[in-house]
Amino acid sequence: MDTPATTPVTNIATIASLTHHIGESVTLRGWLYNIRSSGKLLFPTFRDGTGTVQGIVPKAAVSENVFDRIKSLTQESSVIVTGTVRADTRAPSGVELDVTDVAIVHLIPAETPFPISPKEHGVDFLMEHRHLWIRTPRQSAILRIRATIMRAAQEYFDTNGFIRTDPPILTPAACEGTSTLFELDYFGDPAFLTQSGQLYIESTALALGKVYSFGPTFRAEKSKTRRHLTEFWMIEPEVAYMDLEGDMQLAEAFLTHIVTTVLANHQADLKVIGRDIAKLEAVIAPNEPTPTDRHPERSAAESKDPDAAGPTHTAETLSATKQPAPSFPRLTYDEAHQMLDEAYKAGKIEAAHIYGDDFGSPDETYISSQFDKPVMIHRYPAAIKAFYMQPDPADPTKALCVDVLAPEGYGEIIGGSQRVDSYDLLKARIEEHNLPLAAFEWYLDLRRYGSVPHSGFGMGIERVVAWICGLDHVRETIPFARTLNRIYP
Ligand code: 4AD
Ligand code: MG
Repeated sequence: MDTPATTPVTNIATIASLTHHIGESVTLRGWLYNIRSSGKLLFPTFRDGTGTVQGIVPKAAVSENVFDRIKSLTQESSVIVTGTVRADTRAPSGVELDVTDVAIVHLIPAETPFPISPKEHGVDFLMEHRHLWIRTPRQSAILRIRATIMRAAQEYFDTNGFIRTDPPILTPAACEGTSTLFELDYFGDPAFLTQSGQLYIESTALALGKVYSFGPTFRAEKSKTRRHLTEFWMIEPEVAYMDLEGDMQLAEAFLTHIVTTVLANHQADLKVIGRDIAKLEAVIAPNEPTPTDRHPERSAAESKDPDAAGPTHTAETLSATKQPAPSFPRLTYDEAHQMLDEAYKAGKIEAAHIYGDDFGSPDETYISSQFDKPVMIHRYPAAIKAFYMQPDPADPTKALCVDVLAPEGYGEIIGGSQRVDSYDLLKARIEEHNLPLAAFEWYLDLRRYGSVPHSGFGMGIERVVAWICGLDHVRETIPFARTLNRIYP
């Protein structure tokens, strides 16, 4: 440390705020990201966590000492930089910095350079150095957007009357099938890392009405796909007296708020990532007034006595969002199957979708590529869905459930349903699925005492970050991804 890091400085600023300091001398505290030189001119690029800015250092403008010091900087050496902010419309940040002084906090020796240079690196190498990779502009931009998505998600529920209730992470039973459980030894008894907070927030919903949970969830996924992590973050609302229709409207208003918030706060970050912003704007754009062909069940419901639609919190949920949500396309499972069948016959997809099977990734990709908004697929065959889903009274072979598929082939981002509210049916379902009844006695109590129709959904944060940022793989959506073959660093 050749210069004290605590040099008294004035007008400390962050790079993201520089457009508010045009013409001023400011001091930035950060790191050197890159440096180019052309003889008597140096172009160091600095980063500070809020963004990057290019500096300009003409040899004639600073002392030889300062010029040589800047020239000696290596990538990721930490520095305190002083300079005058100048507007520059060509710069991505809108400004450049006429550097007047640099204090070095830690100089990385040239013999041991920062491992991740701005040139290309393989994915394995980058993941092995994830703790350093996150310093690069693109990865930092993704993590900032992730934070906003998490904030917007919580904000939506916090400002719409939902109470946050945190479910346990150590649990005695499975929520989403026994094949992806992480088992551990709980003082001699088996316990599992939670796959979803749902079962617990069903109980808090019956206590508090409208609730949500937000936390890490775990699935021992033995497949390597670009959509699966073994540890991911899920936000889950659950509402007493809400039916599937209310659940779908809630999902739509919720996603609209998230996309709106990201667009309002991250134009520069989206540019750094190279995201096509028009694709996100299309998600929140109001629909053309001819959507009835895509909403057969909704227009039928509207023409009926509203009370006949069953118990719902829909009106209350929507009144709190202040503006009508744009409507996302909806398809029943049967309609989605039909769409795939026609695509197969027309040679647009390679494999036929078998009626009754779940949709595979190529199926979801095809369906979602037909729309520029998230598409809601509802009423899947009950046989391929979770034990807790309420059967459709109109056709009990179908479940009152919905999967929301993100546009551009991103696949499922939300899974939700109305829950079985009958004690007898739920008990039968637990037995059919060979789940240990004793572990579910408390859950059955919710149907013994004041049972009501209720619904909710779960949204995986990483899937949404991948979609909103336009990423190929979920591994870049979380600071430290946990996958089948990686638990380091
Ligand atoms: O569809 P899933 O399995 O639904 C549930 O867990 C319900 N109990 C939620 C509820 O109704 N309260 O998971 C919900 C979402 C998926 O749509 C997806 O976004 C995400 O969680 N997800 C994963 N994300 C990353 N990696 C995985 N392995 C994921 N599994 C699910
Ligand atoms: Mg699902």
